[in-house]
Amino acid sequence: MTFRFGDREIAVEPGQSIGAALLAAGYRSWRTTRHDGAPRGIFCGIGVCFDCLVTVNGRPNQRACVTEAHPGDRVEPQEGTGHAGLAC
Ligand code: FES
Repeated sequence: MTFRFGDREIAVEPGQSIGAALLAAGYRSWRTTRHDGAPRGIFCGIGVCFDCLVTVNGRPNQRACVTEAHPGDRVEPQEGTGHAGLAC
């Protein structure tokens, strides 16, 4: 089974998190910070640090490390707050 990440199909095992699948596919970062645009990916891996945020099926600010991947999900990298028009 797969989900979509940008223009790529990512293989995922049943029950696997989006973050684990992205790491297995070779990604190390998929978010940029709102002030500096610095790259972020998995840091804590347990849902605490919020470094791994992605947009899932149009919903921004989903923690990739604790969000289970489902077939057909559309996952996008996230820049800043993930909300267009917010400049924090
Ligand atoms: S890696 Fe820390 S919340 Fe996901």
